[in-house]
Amino acid sequence: MTRLILAAVIGLTTALPAAAQFKNAEAAIKYRQSVMQVQNHHLGRIFAMVNGRMPFDAKVAAEDAALLDTIDKLPFVAFIDGSDKGETNAKSEIWKQRARFDAAALKMQEDVAKLNAAAKTGSLDAIKAAAGAVGQSCKACHDDYQAK
Ligand code: HEC
Repeated sequence: MTRLILAAVIGLTTALPAAAQFKNAEAAIKYRQSVMQVQNHHLGRIFAMVNGRMPFDAKVAAEDAALLDTIDKLPFVAFIDGSDKGETNAKSEIWKQRARFDAAALKMQEDVAKLNAAAKTGSLDAIKAAAGAVGQSCKACHDDYQAK
């Protein structure tokens, strides 16, 4: 029984790096766009709460922020070589300015970590400020690296 559970846990932890391998550029593009959409959904719900378009529920906000803090690393492993062509809005500058692009990703991840910490306090004001910073980080990268 214990061995079974252990095997399941190991299976889970090894599943993540494996997901970073894509069968082709098209699969990588779909993957990163999907994760971006999921990020958008959960950040959007936090924004709906801080803007009063949805009743504030501290538990839901904390769940959204924690989820964001987990998945925000995923899209960036999918900007693989050759995936600047096809059904993508990723600008080719990404592959010419990789360090700058990665820094923009890191900035967003740091802001999301702060949002996660703020959401754990349950303070709507703290969540509002932190969510605003995340929105800015998302936008900053899109302004430079996402074709309109
Ligand atoms: C470091 C750069 C970067 C950051 C940070 C970033 N994005 Fe993106 N995002 C991109 C790029 C590049 C694309 C275009 C991907 C493609 O079409 O292949 C994109 C695409 C998207 C899309 C469109 C996906 C689709 O279906 O085509 C959404 C929605 C999105 N991002 C939301 C977000 C949100 C929300 C955040 C912040 C939590 C965020 N992004 C942070 C670079 C970034």
